[in-house]
Amino acid sequence: MSTEAKCSKPACDKFVAVNELAKRRGFFWPSFEIYGGSGGFVTYGPLGSRLKQNVEAKLRELFVKKIGIYEMENSVIAPGKVFEASGHVDHFKEPMVECQNCHQRFRADHLLEEKGISSAEAEKMTLEEVAKEIEVHSVVCPDCKGKFGAPTRYLTMFQTTIGPYSGAVGYGRPEAAQNIFVEFNRLYTTARERLPFGCIQIGHALRNEISPRQGLIRLREFTIADLEFFFDPEEPACDKLADVENEVLPILLCETRLKECEDVTNFTVSEALDKKIIRSEWQAFFMAQAKRLLTELGVPADKQRFIEKLTWEKAHYSSQSFDQEVLVDRWGWVEVSGHAYRTDFDLSCHMKASGVDMTVYKEYASPVEKEELTVKPLMAKLGPIYKGDAGKVAAELAKVPAQEIADTMKKDGSFMAGNYQVLPEQVDISMQKTIVRGTRFVPHVVEPSFGSDRLFYVAMEYAYNVKDDRVVMSFPRSIAPIQVGVYPLMGKDGLDTKAKEVQKLLVSEGFMTEYDETGSIGRRYARADEAGIQLGITIDYDTLSDGTVTIRDRDSWQQIRIQIKELPTKLHEYFQEKLNFEQLGSVIKS
Ligand code: ATP
Ligand code: GLY
Repeated sequence: MSTEAKCSKPACDKFVAVNELAKRRGFFWPSFEIYGGSGGFVTYGPLGSRLKQNVEAKLRELFVKKIGIYEMENSVIAPGKVFEASGHVDHFKEPMVECQNCHQRFRADHLLEEKGISSAEAEKMTLEEVAKEIEVHSVVCPDCKGKFGAPTRYLTMFQTTIGPYSGAVGYGRPEAAQNIFVEFNRLYTTARERLPFGCIQIGHALRNEISPRQGLIRLREFTIADLEFFFDPEEPACDKLADVENEVLPILLCETRLKECEDVTNFTVSEALDKKIIRSEWQAFFMAQAKRLLTELGVPADKQRFIEKLTWEKAHYSSQSFDQEVLVDRWGWVEVSGHAYRTDFDLSCHMKASGVDMTVYKEYASPVEKEELTVKPLMAKLGPIYKGDAGKVAAELAKVPAQEIADTMKKDGSFMAGNYQVLPEQVDISMQKTIVRGTRFVPHVVEPSFGSDRLFYVAMEYAYNVKDDRVVMSFPRSIAPIQVGVYPLMGKDGLDTKAKEVQKLLVSEGFMTEYDETGSIGRRYARADEAGIQLGITIDYDTLSDGTVTIRDRDSWQQIRIQIKELPTKLHEYFQEKLNFEQLGSVIKS
């Protein structure tokens, strides 16, 4: 992301306002406060936990329920081998500088961005270039104005040991993707050995970020939703494309970025594929879904864009990457999801490192005749020399590609099959016609990867409204942390008992409710608006005589009157977005 620590706005921007409200109302706050806090960790309180679950429910609804993506869950800690094989131990590093006076450490590229150097330029630099730019731009410690030492690359994975063995290195996963790749063979069996299929994991990820100062945007422990979609690179067509082909994707292209211009180009999904802007149909499909998801979380389409990553900005595993970004008040454009075409990179790395075959078999439509170099052990010649071991020699030879045996024999005059030396006259190496019925290959992968804390944050920021000097959290109704507040006009005269009955009815229907009888009804409405409670049901004296209640809408403050017995059906329809507020009952004119 390109916008760290660029705030030039007064302290009342939405970042401050949202964080202040979040603390006050129990959405979220920095963790470990009684010990002075520890940057990059967050606690979600009662309202925040609900909201986060609802955001993640949206991910599940979209991908698992509607698209049929599998879901899995496993561990946050993985043996070192996993992240050595995946390339993270070598690549998951950020440039860091340390103040020689106060010894605070900072992301060097972020400090340079504050001096007007674009993230694209900063990410490309060698450590020597970073050092030079720090000097040229007189970058000093933001805390004490001290001078920085030489930049280094810092591995941002948390390292631990597994059990009490110092040699058993483990890492906290910086992404959940690797957990999916290492389980590929079992998942493929579960998928009845058919491609394409996808698997998502929504779980905690750990990144030992160098100097996190952006609240929920940059945490050291956060929730990631990594979706790995496996397909045959020879059959890359997305069979669900019709559903998204007219969806418009605003893309900030590499060529535009290189001109230091921020103008997006709007492409429909079909255009982006026809013009080869996006190379994989499945990747385009998931980008369109990501746009819909953010729209459903309350972010208008014109506050979203996709940014094409330059070669040197892409993660080491990606052949093409786009970041989905959302415009936020303080930080500018912030990445909320990454879309990478990971090809066969990860499965191939794990195959090589583990020695386990992760290829899949594909039968050809009709068998094909192929000429292949083959090595046939001549048992009549091997037998007298190797006696009972001749079979083992043949087995060792069968493990090695014929070309390798032929080349070695040509070069060295013999070939070592395990511990057995084999001479050219002991084998027949020749081109043979064979009937091939199928082939084995490593599936390709496209990945949409969402950070649910960032989704949560942007949903909070876009819900944040001020009406008549009061904060109203106008969440889309599908993610409101509490759906219905239930309020007796007075906490007496049987109104409280009736209100509790109504609440019980709603709870039995599966609604998320809150009962509140404290303070004036106006105060209760104001509290509910801040908490983002979608509807307020008020029980008054008429309720006792005619069985009706008032429902108040959080955003318009409009009110309608409805029979209690109609509540379950009408509210279900309302929350399924089949009814508008006005259609719930008879509108009360104010
Ligand atoms: P950034 O460039 O902002 O550091 P990234 O490119 O490293 O992000 P990815 O590796 O693509 O991010 O991770 C996938 C998603 O996880 C991101 O789109 C973002 O929503 C989320 N994410 C990444 N790092 C963090 C973090 N430190 N705190 C919260 N969410 C994060
Ligand atoms: N998905 C982010 C990374 O592992 O590089």
